[in-house]
Amino acid sequence: MAKVTVLGMGAMGSRMAISLLKAGHEVTVWNRSRGKTKLMAKVGASVAETPRIAVEQAEFVISMVRDDQASKQIWLDPEQGAIAGLQPNVVAIESSTLTLAWTKELGDQLKKHNIAFLDAPVAGTRPQAEAAQLIYFVGGDAETFVKAKPIFQSMGKTINHVGLVGSGMTIKLAVNSLFALQIAAFGELFGFMGECGLDKNKAVELLTSTPVCSPAAKVAATAMLSNQFSPLFPIDLVEKDMSYAIKTAQANNVKLPLVEATQNVCTEAIRQGYGGDNITGLVQLYNQGLKD
Ligand SMILES: NC(=O)c1ccc[n+]([C@@H]2O[C@H](COP(=O)([O-])OP(=O)(O)OC[C@H]3O[C@@H](n4cnc5c(N)ncnc54)[C@H](OP(=O)(O)O)[C@@H]3O)[C@@H](O)[C@H]2O)c1
Repeated sequence: MAKVTVLGMGAMGSRMAISLLKAGHEVTVWNRSRGKTKLMAKVGASVAETPRIAVEQAEFVISMVRDDQASKQIWLDPEQGAIAGLQPNVVAIESSTLTLAWTKELGDQLKKHNIAFLDAPVAGTRPQAEAAQLIYFVGGDAETFVKAKPIFQSMGKTINHVGLVGSGMTIKLAVNSLFALQIAAFGELFGFMGECGLDKNKAVELLTSTPVCSPAAKVAATAMLSNQFSPLFPIDLVEKDMSYAIKTAQANNVKLPLVEATQNVCTEAIRQGYGGDNITGLVQLYNQGLKD
């Protein structure tokens, strides 16, 4: 069993840390606001005061925070940042969903310190994190991947080695874009079908029974029907991920017009006060169908 540090005790990081504890690892955690670490102490994790202190004994360090800014802060802060406390043989792992540019820059910073690095974002939301059923997309060299794989297996069911540093993040941004695009489209079609006189229950049953509907869209459509909007993958985070996909595309001279349209839908939902709702809450924009 290994000494693993998890930085970021949000919805995902806390569940991942609990999976690591259940698998028998020695777990240290840190979170910006202390309240969220109380439960972790109760279930057997050590709680550290700063990222730098949290990583001092670690063989593996996993970051699971909101965005690029948070990741920069926890790794690079000159006083309290994790990089300053890392041991030479540690594997540093970034599991937050971030831009490709920042992921590569972080990899470069760690390389300067001779620290092995993997980007390892995950597909799956709170229930999958809780059940250690996440799907991992890992970027980095093969030797480091093999070393870290048992750690990922404590939290996930499918562990994919995608390629070099940054490749895990790129596929993750693509996965989330494809998912969000489908859910936004479903929300729009709800309005359309209702306004055209269809019974929504029947329409959803028919639409989701066709081969054109993905399993994820089927789950989301069923949740939309019963107004289940309590946050799993909240619209705020979806919008962040769409903006990161667009930034990453722009940096590589590619355009993502459909992802941009999906980001606009999320921005509108946030403006109307639905940002904390699950992605299924996008349907609330289309209760009367979208009018001119
Ligand atoms: N939710 C999902 O379904 C899902 C699925 C896959 C991947 N992800 C990705 O996983 C990451 C975490 O998601 P989540 O659902 O766990 O989010 P969350 O519940 O909102 O938690 C965010 C975490 O980031 C920390 N944080 C935010 N800004 C910070 C800063 N400037 N400095 C230090 N820490 C900061 C928060 O600390 P405080 O507690 O102090 O605010 C909290 O620990 C995100 O990148 C997200 O896109 C999410």
